[in-house]
Amino acid sequence: MNRRSFLFCLGAMSACAMFNRPALAAGNSILVTYFSATGTTKAVAEAMARTFGADLYAITPEKAYTNADLDWHDKTSRSSIEMADGKSRPKLAGPLPDMGKYGTVFIGYPIWWGIAPRIVQTFVEQCDFKGKKVIPFCTSGSSPFAGSADLLSAAASGAEWLPGKRLDSRAGSEELAAWAKELGVK
Ligand SMILES: Cc1cc2nc3c(=O)[nH]c(=O)nc-3n(C[C@H](O)[C@H](O)[C@H](O)COP(=O)(O)O)c2cc1C
Repeated sequence: MNRRSFLFCLGAMSACAMFNRPALAAGNSILVTYFSATGTTKAVAEAMARTFGADLYAITPEKAYTNADLDWHDKTSRSSIEMADGKSRPKLAGPLPDMGKYGTVFIGYPIWWGIAPRIVQTFVEQCDFKGKKVIPFCTSGSSPFAGSADLLSAAASGAEWLPGKRLDSRAGSEELAAWAKELGVK
């Protein structure tokens, strides 16, 4: 560090101390995160981001799921094996979002065997949700939201988990805005 940057850092630090503020204040923006294997949850998440004026983050597996991987009739398919193993944590691709900017985080996923896919568990375990409002949502063939996020909320202590919801792929901005109002978000 040269003399100039040292003096700059010193100045910034004393300014923070002077106003008694933390150097990194938690942000109030909204982030919509989602995992989607075949596009349904992605479409809902995009509609939510548009309606809420939120940022969007795709939870992306290091290795994309093929159609064969998603075959739930096949006990030996990748998704069947992952979902049968509570300890399975498929790897993520790409950097995690900068959580410091957000006060509210939505987490969307398709229901797989009644719960969130293991890749969403990987994501939740790698992020810091402390002090944030977290709202899960899902899409599904027919299963209700029910306890699909229980393993996720257990993995993110220190966050305020609000009730989740199953959303239809055709969820419109009016329905989404009404839900956000109900949650006290926005
Ligand atoms: C491996 C696998 C398991 C599934 N399990 C369920 C289930 O238990 N209940 C249900 O209603 N739908 C189930 N589905 C259907 C998906 O939840 C539904 O098609 C979802 O909207 C897909 O979202 P996506 O396009 O964002 O991946 C399953 C789909 C897959 C691929």
